[in-house]
Amino acid sequence: MKVAQPIEWTAKGVVMLDQRRLPGEVIRHTYVDYRDVAGAIKDMVIRGAPAIGVAAAMGVALGVEHSSAGSLEELRAEFPAICLTIARTRPTAVDLFWAVERMTRRFEQLSSGNSPLDAVRRAMVEEACAIHAEKRATDEAMGRFGAELMPAAGKVMTQCNAGALATAGIGSALGVIRVAVEQGHDLHVLVPETRPYLQGARLTAWELHEGGIPLTLITDNMVGHFMKSGSVDAVVVGADRIAANGDTANKIGTYQIAVLAHEHGVPFYVAAPVSTFDLTISSGEQIPIEERAAEEVTHFRGVRIAPDVTAANPAFDVTPARLISGIICERGVARAPYAESLRRLADSDVAVPQA
Ligand code: MRU
Repeated sequence: MKVAQPIEWTAKGVVMLDQRRLPGEVIRHTYVDYRDVAGAIKDMVIRGAPAIGVAAAMGVALGVEHSSAGSLEELRAEFPAICLTIARTRPTAVDLFWAVERMTRRFEQLSSGNSPLDAVRRAMVEEACAIHAEKRATDEAMGRFGAELMPAAGKVMTQCNAGALATAGIGSALGVIRVAVEQGHDLHVLVPETRPYLQGARLTAWELHEGGIPLTLITDNMVGHFMKSGSVDAVVVGADRIAANGDTANKIGTYQIAVLAHEHGVPFYVAAPVSTFDLTISSGEQIPIEERAAEEVTHFRGVRIAPDVTAANPAFDVTPARLISGIICERGVARAPYAESLRRLADSDVAVPQA
């Protein structure tokens, strides 16, 4: 099945597919400056929690690779600023901070010895590429666990885009759907358009269509209607941050889908890698919610669609754990009570086979 490549490390730099232009145009940019990678994350050239994590790791690696430092000492002095620039891009997806922390740990290991500067630069690039490869393997494993929860035949709803574009693998929520379809499940995907940024209409619809998976695009305000008429057999969404108690932040609109799923007895699953768990916070109340520019609501691609009024634009909402039937990760499926099951999965050292 065809899978989009949102990001790649190449000899020329970090190449990203510009997700702002999809589905109309397929354009790629090459970045050699970590500050431009930070800009690309902030401006949504790349988006989706795990893909942001890969971009963050590659950004840090670029910063190290292209640094003008002439000694390890100088590089050590520059390193925190590189990490800070990458970390200050988007606040909600914890994969971003997970990736920066992992790159920092690797840098500390490498720079505490007497490794030559070039070897440190090379090893940091290798670490970023290893993170990318692991994300692919993670998605495949998540897909296998999640496929078992999908109906043999029926309609599955998702939200936003939790596909290959969002993870740099086969996708989390869409990875589950992909693997289920490959295994012979007869699935039809209901795709809410996901205002205001339209990740559903522009990206999920594009990915599923390219992959030959049947779908119906709906507007966000049709969700209740389709739930009530019995047209939804399961929901599977991705996540940006999962608190220790299972409360889950995902794209704005996810919470209302979860409430409706609960009301209508439809199972509601979250698919996300362990890197999206934030066990340092006890509940979803502590998850920072990004507030994006009001123009994303009042305008579409530069064209005003509302009068000059105040508009709110929280990019994420939090679904309480009690509305979630299961959290699918690369190590299995967590069930309530999540405080125990998430901790067990996070601590288990089950190796994910490389794809
Ligand atoms: O603002 P975005 O497009 O980065 O938001 C993305 C989402 O909310 C996704 O559902 C989430 O990151 C999971 S992606 C596998």
